[in-house]
Amino acid sequence: MPERISVFGTGYLGATHAAGMAELGHEVIGVDIDPAKIDLLRRGEVPFFEPGLSDVLRRHVESGRLRFTTDPQEAADFADVHFIGVGTPQKKGENAADMRYVDAVIETLGPLLTRPAVILGKSTVPVGTAARLADRLRDIAPVGDDAQLGWNPEFLREGFAVQDTLFPDRLVIGVDPQRPGRIEEAARRVYAAMLERDTPFIVTDLATSELVKVSANAFLATKISFINAIAEVCEASGGDVIALADAIGHDERIGRKFLGAGLGFGGGCLPKDIRAFMARAGELGVDQALTFLREVDNVNMRRREHAVELATRVVGGSLSGIHVAVLGAAFKPQSDDVRDSPALDVAGSLHLRGADVRVYDPEAMRNAAAIWPTLTFADSIDDACRGADLVIVATEWGEFKTMDPVVLAAAVGSTRIIDGRNCLPSQEWIDAGWDYYGMGRHSG
Ligand code: UDX
Repeated sequence: MPERISVFGTGYLGATHAAGMAELGHEVIGVDIDPAKIDLLRRGEVPFFEPGLSDVLRRHVESGRLRFTTDPQEAADFADVHFIGVGTPQKKGENAADMRYVDAVIETLGPLLTRPAVILGKSTVPVGTAARLADRLRDIAPVGDDAQLGWNPEFLREGFAVQDTLFPDRLVIGVDPQRPGRIEEAARRVYAAMLERDTPFIVTDLATSELVKVSANAFLATKISFINAIAEVCEASGGDVIALADAIGHDERIGRKFLGAGLGFGGGCLPKDIRAFMARAGELGVDQALTFLREVDNVNMRRREHAVELATRVVGGSLSGIHVAVLGAAFKPQSDDVRDSPALDVAGSLHLRGADVRVYDPEAMRNAAAIWPTLTFADSIDDACRGADLVIVATEWGEFKTMDPVVLAAAVGSTRIIDGRNCLPSQEWIDAGWDYYGMGRHSG
């Protein structure tokens, strides 16, 4: 049975969730305070790059099953289940998450709820938020106890957001055991198609559901920083982190995924989530439990410095006037997101050290230029690399992984390449006469 659903927030999370819910057959209304974004979405256009999303979105906007509004009243009148998919960015100058957008949804929607409604939060929030919001909602909603709030964290990855939304590894529903209400039942109706496929469905208390999300991201960040820490040791000792990761990854208990050493993690989630998690642990008086995450963050940030130092070293000690081609600006391939992007951070640091940096990224140029307008942006790999003294691969886009080292050698000024993502077939580059520098490898 189709449900009537609203999704507050139309960023990566909200827009994808809204489109995904329409794909599941529900009637959906997406809500945002930004009229420009809503105008685009109404025309079936996605305001950011996410493979496959525009197809799904356009299809359902055209069929009328998915619409968008800036008016929360419309959502309150229409939907029985409301999702919160707004951002929880890092506060300026602090590690904690900025809760103003999540709070604003409750403050706006709550007073409009004149009939029973279930609200499911998807945003990544500090533990304790859902209980606080559930109380607040009961106070301000005209329906009182019939405005019921649960938490349903989202685990989608950018670049695979549609797939992850429609085929999640698991569904987690946080419910206050003292007041279970209709929350689980509503979630089961919304996600009926996934439950038929036996997708694991975990119903837990509110605090656990909030912690599941941040713990998952903390674990992933730790895994990446673990291998990057080992990469540092490999660099100092002549080891090879790729062979090492392959070898330890064969142990099922460890696994090979997320053991890619390189420039480290970035994006709108992992960096700010581990910081917010530490901040919240501090508030709860258990900061020691998570001090290791500070080291995870430190190892991660050191990778960017390492790349800049390596670049300085391989060009002979000074970057002044050196032409560096930086291939990649997005924090990872299949995304135009440059939030906390290691690639862009490295490009910016090289520029500040006097290098003539030319950046090329297949999708993220506009976002990158908005943050670093003083960098030079090239139209293509060739354009960025023409006459370059050094090439750095900073994001592992497919078109960089398949570059022909022989062809590129003829375009550059010097055949030196830093493979910041260990994504190139190193031997081919060495055979083509390049000085190849990987991350955590003999040459790095
Ligand atoms: C992450 C989580 O994976 C997702 O479950 C959560 O909902 C949001 O945060 P995302 O930020 O889209 O998703 O990216 P992810 O694919 O996890 O990559 C994060 C960063 O880690 C990227 O910068 C990526 O380049 C880096 N990374 C990933 C590595 O450096 N090495 C690896 O082995 C894997």
